[in-house]
Amino acid sequence: MTVYIHYIRALCSFSHIERLLLAGLIFCGIILAARAGETVDKSGNPAFRPAALWLDNHNVPINAHGGGVLFMPGTMPDQGTYYWFGEHKVAGDLGNTAQVGIHVYSSSDLASWKDQGIALKVADRPDMDICRGSIIERPKVVYNSRTKKFVMWFHLELVGKGYASARCGVAVASSATGPYRYIGSFRPDVGAWPMNTSLATHHPVGPEDRPELDKIKTDGGPYPGYPTNIIYRRDFAVGQMARDMTLFVDDDETAYVIYASEENGTLHISQLTPDYLKTAGRYVRVLPGGFNEAPALFKSAGKYFLFSSHCTGWSPNAGRLSVADSIWGPWREVGNPWHGPQDKISVSYGTQSTFVLPVADHPGAFIYMADLWRPQNAIDGRYVWLPIRWQDGLPELAWRDQWGLSEFDYTATGKATGKVTQLEKLAQIQNKP
Ligand code: DGJ
Repeated sequence: MTVYIHYIRALCSFSHIERLLLAGLIFCGIILAARAGETVDKSGNPAFRPAALWLDNHNVPINAHGGGVLFMPGTMPDQGTYYWFGEHKVAGDLGNTAQVGIHVYSSSDLASWKDQGIALKVADRPDMDICRGSIIERPKVVYNSRTKKFVMWFHLELVGKGYASARCGVAVASSATGPYRYIGSFRPDVGAWPMNTSLATHHPVGPEDRPELDKIKTDGGPYPGYPTNIIYRRDFAVGQMARDMTLFVDDDETAYVIYASEENGTLHISQLTPDYLKTAGRYVRVLPGGFNEAPALFKSAGKYFLFSSHCTGWSPNAGRLSVADSIWGPWREVGNPWHGPQDKISVSYGTQSTFVLPVADHPGAFIYMADLWRPQNAIDGRYVWLPIRWQDGLPELAWRDQWGLSEFDYTATGKATGKVTQLEKLAQIQNKP
């Protein structure tokens, strides 16, 4: 109190000019704080504002599209760092190709992000897969505790070939922020048959398959007559097509890559080798002929959940949710996880899924990460992060103009007490009317 009285006395002693100057300074301070604090609410608590401009520590818009987040625990409980990796896009249509590389940011609270630079740079040599002008999309990074390496996977399209290459790119680093060393690109699972197909189908295509092969269209979207059970056989010898992708590490540290395959018609879930650098030849086909892309897979209370989208290029469409008791399936489609007015949920509020982020120290708390693409000016694409709500054991999504991590602080009684345990979370789900 005495401190405030002291301040008031000091203020009274200021001249008119000094008071005007002070007011100006305070006003500028508020403006700057508001700009820098895009992700801080009125009380100074971290807040998320979906689709608003999201600034880094230099007040520069975060440039990490189609991204994913890796959490690395600290030495003390409650400490740790989140690393957000995403496509660095440039202005205009050019930004839909890789001109710079993969950007990485770090944060301890998920709200304020420090620019850590370009984790993987495009190459200047045109003979390299990841040269400038190639397409590098949806990078994801996982940590391998056996090799102590950070491993980055991304969707790679070789320069000048549109989306026909459909390859996985892999890079590796000894520290989270890199620099990452590019290892190579490939079509996954060369010479391997999907584990959920019958032995009778395990033979490459032959002349008898010509009528079915002739039905294949290559524009990446759905069409009547899509030949559902032939493309993986066509690609047996050269490796499976791999476009939109994500990574997932299970509780036993087995890692998987999930990608849109078979001309986008069918997702594949493929186990990685113990070093996470290749696929292991063990994979399943998921929702054959369903035309899903933008996969974002996560696990909660022993179940596996998969957000995805339809295949409509950069245009948004209705989100999809699928669920399974095992990562190998069977996967059951549940429908659109969005709640809200029909005209909004039929386009997922303009967004497309990219990743589901488990919130550290908040078991059962997950953030849906999505992109709101602006392909005419790619750099201006926005990020939409939303808290995942649970209803009858299923995740659901609803739009929020603003929200904070306190969203996840509740118990079965509904009282905000701090962090939830998985048991409390389950009880909370089960107690819902
Ligand atoms: C939709 C995908 O989800 C994006 O990553 C990108 O590949 C666009 N299609 C390209 O049209």
